[in-house]
Amino acid sequence: MIYPASHFMPGSEHEIKVISKRFHLAGAGTLDTYLANEGYQAFLKASKMTQDAIIDEVKKSALRGRGGAGFPAGMKWSFVPRANPKPKYIVCNGDESEPATCKDRLLMQFDPHAIFEGMMIAGLSVGAHQGYIYVRGEFRFLIEIVEKAIDEAYARGYLGKNIQGTGFDFDLAVHTGAGAYECGEESALLESLEGKRGIPRIRPPFPAVAGLYQCPTILNNVETFASVPPIIIKGGEWYLGLGTPKNGGTRLFNISGHVNKPGAYELPLGISLRKMVYEVAGGIPGGRKLKAVIPGGSSTPVMPASQLDTPMDFDSVAKAGSMLGSGGVVVMDETTDMVAVALRIMRFYAHESCGWCIPCREGTTWLRKTLQRFYDGGGTTRDIDLIDNLAQNMMGRTFCPLGDAAAMPTLGILKHFRHEFEAYLERKPELVALGQKA
Ligand SMILES: Cc1cc2nc3c(=O)[nH]c(=O)nc-3n(C[C@H](O)[C@H](O)[C@H](O)COP(=O)(O)O)c2cc1C
Ligand code: SF4
Repeated sequence: MIYPASHFMPGSEHEIKVISKRFHLAGAGTLDTYLANEGYQAFLKASKMTQDAIIDEVKKSALRGRGGAGFPAGMKWSFVPRANPKPKYIVCNGDESEPATCKDRLLMQFDPHAIFEGMMIAGLSVGAHQGYIYVRGEFRFLIEIVEKAIDEAYARGYLGKNIQGTGFDFDLAVHTGAGAYECGEESALLESLEGKRGIPRIRPPFPAVAGLYQCPTILNNVETFASVPPIIIKGGEWYLGLGTPKNGGTRLFNISGHVNKPGAYELPLGISLRKMVYEVAGGIPGGRKLKAVIPGGSSTPVMPASQLDTPMDFDSVAKAGSMLGSGGVVVMDETTDMVAVALRIMRFYAHESCGWCIPCREGTTWLRKTLQRFYDGGGTTRDIDLIDNLAQNMMGRTFCPLGDAAAMPTLGILKHFRHEFEAYLERKPELVALGQKA
């Protein structure tokens, strides 16, 4: 069953709909609906701008990558050596593999042409004529939707040669992954796109210089590309003004866990976490107290309730010791067993470690085993320091950022909730939530 957008987006007065404004329209996702609602106007405008002017506009907007790291998109585009005679590529990361994140899938389902248009504008800005959308393999139904939209765009002259008489050629194809979390990491994604095993590449060089087939490549997240057309239409300054300084615009947050109104919400960057939990998502069921929040997908360190007034933008969340990441906000109330959370998250990372480098392959496995033993009641006092030590020893010592991504949640939970690990040993029932098996 394919649900309408309202199924995923319950709505809130705090929303500012920039990239989700077409989600609820009749015929959402079709070219006709897109064209009737500003569709491809930004591309036509950009086709008359210089490459520098396009990149400047994106820089001005302070659009930061929505895939996790929050790198400024305009700056990334400016790193592409335009004079390089090699072909240039535009790659869209639609792997959406970070647990708690399910926003790119909404864009692919309800507004795929916005993604194409953003990629075409990126193509104009560096002289690239070929794009690929890398979609996670489990998104079978989405792959069909995106491919149908591509066919529609070709049939009506919005892809292919001399698009709408602008003289610009752009081809676009979907490439499907096979569901490996690691293939969301940009260099592993490029390997996979080239038909090889999805393991990361050493960097530098970064994809902007040597990406797909060792050619200059702009690689951005689905949501990052979809945010570009409104920036070109309304201007970078306008977009910047929606968020906070250096954190322009809105983003699609997914709020899940112990809230009354879980779902996807398009909110301005900088909205406070408190507002998000208690106003946007309707507070915690049963009036229970908040214990902690994972702010940006499972790899981001947990924030305790004392940090509820943090503005949800990249810099403020980093200052609070975590990361805004992919925008997947998981709310956990006072009944949550944090040892179980640490174990559940580590199970995922141990399963998804690609095994290429030892600190990650061994570290995640031993952390999973130790956390499991601890959770099952076989832990000792020494295990708490052992868990800390194992995770510390992964940080910064792995081939790609998955190692850090795996270690950070455990370290964050230990930092703020060490007493819960101690309570496990002492079996203090008031501190150990019952009935919550990981
Ligand atoms: C293990 C791992 C998994 C990742 N998964 C994704 C993903 O599913 N989607 C995504 O856009 N970025 C993912 N990233 C981040 C990408 O490497 C890259 O930074 C991003 O796609 C760049 O686009 P952006 O600048 O628009 O965010 C992942 C990173 C790591 C280390
Ligand atoms: S850090 Fe993990 S996922 Fe990354 S290369 Fe090493 S083993 Fe593979």
